[in-house]
Amino acid sequence: MARKTKKLWEGRFSAPPSRVAEEFTGSLRFDRRLWPYDLRGSEVHCKMLARQGIIPKRDATKILAGLAQVRKELLAGRFRFEPSDEDIHSAIERRMTEIVGPAGGRLHTARSRNDQVVLDVRLFLKDVLDKLRVTLEEVRKAIAGLAHRNLDLVMPGYTHMQRAQPVLLAHHLLAYYDMLGRDDERFRDCRTRVDVLPLGSGALAGVPYPIDREFVAEQLDFARVAQNSIDAVSDRDFIAEFLAAASILFVHLSRLCTDLTQWATSEFGFVEFPDEFSTGSSIMPQKKNPDVAEIIRGKSGRVFASLQALLVIQKGLPLAYQSDLQEDKEPLFDASDTALSTLKTLAAMLPGLRFRKERMRDAARGFLLATELADYLAERGMPFREAHGVVGAIVQHCLKDGVELEALSLAELRRFSTRFERDVAERLTPEAAVARRKATGGTARANVEKRLAEIGV
Ligand code: ARG
Repeated sequence: MARKTKKLWEGRFSAPPSRVAEEFTGSLRFDRRLWPYDLRGSEVHCKMLARQGIIPKRDATKILAGLAQVRKELLAGRFRFEPSDEDIHSAIERRMTEIVGPAGGRLHTARSRNDQVVLDVRLFLKDVLDKLRVTLEEVRKAIAGLAHRNLDLVMPGYTHMQRAQPVLLAHHLLAYYDMLGRDDERFRDCRTRVDVLPLGSGALAGVPYPIDREFVAEQLDFARVAQNSIDAVSDRDFIAEFLAAASILFVHLSRLCTDLTQWATSEFGFVEFPDEFSTGSSIMPQKKNPDVAEIIRGKSGRVFASLQALLVIQKGLPLAYQSDLQEDKEPLFDASDTALSTLKTLAAMLPGLRFRKERMRDAARGFLLATELADYLAERGMPFREAHGVVGAIVQHCLKDGVELEALSLAELRRFSTRFERDVAERLTPEAAVARRKATGGTARANVEKRLAEIGV
């Protein structure tokens, strides 16, 4: 039973844990990356304990020196983890105590790993959110830049994957700008609920020492202090909320990637991906695959799965802390890493996209202008529903004779309605159709330019 390494809680036990159980229940494998947050939290906790006279100043000084030494070892990759280190919290406390001796045993006064772990995760997530928002902004700027550089490109807008009405490519791209703007708002809003200090809640009931949670909150840059100790150690809403926001972001990124990969097909031929962001085929020499876009779309699977995992882990759990909650970290880390690397890659790739003006314009003619004819008649007094019917008959006639809408002469058009005049011809271009959609939010170039100016490109 004599073992070289010890457990934080071994006092109550007469047999050490089995090796399999130890491996199975430990979280060090994945939570060691929390070490910078764990150290920071411990330093501030220690200072607070000394300030409040809860532990002797001498011991606090020793503990802080020990933590500084641990930091050095971790930074240099020299920290020796022991098989008995259950998690990053135990590992750091164990090593610090090795360094400073019995005084180290005072650090865990007025603290439990239950409030400690939530502290670490909240600090981690605040960092992630800040980085994500910066990178998301880069993606949005790249989208706005593309819109700006391609302002005169008209393309078919689609509904039901059928050519519908001409739009500006820039307008289509700025739809994504706005979608990602809502994602940013969700991250910002989520951050306000991450920004709450759990430390000081103890295991669940609070602590019987005269701690100063406001001091700790201020030192660790938390906006608020959790007001219910049971909630503070049990709550993982903030992770679920982050993953929900990340999932919606990935819905948006997936849709963008589907648009782009579709536009890159020979059938569409609207866009060319940069070579640096494409891959080839091992067998078909001609292939150029929009790999990055496909993989981004594929990554959404793991992000959605992470959200699902967090919801299932928490559902039906009684208050307060349960070890089930330890399973919160891998999905959180995976989704955070995925979101960050995805946004970075996208921000780098987007500026290299080349749009094919002629292909796009060519696809935006013809029957996409049918609504223009109906609007023309409606402006001249015909009820829109009736105008719709008249133009429907014109379209049917064109389909039967295999002619394009723009090819009809005025005389032919007048066979369907005498309201058609000579000026109808100038309405039948994609540019004219776009230019007329001036109502707020419409694709008219003036609107798009105004939006770009607001965005600042
Ligand atoms: N490794 C644990 C986790 O990630 C830390 C908290 C452990 N608390 C406990 N009472 N066993 O949740």
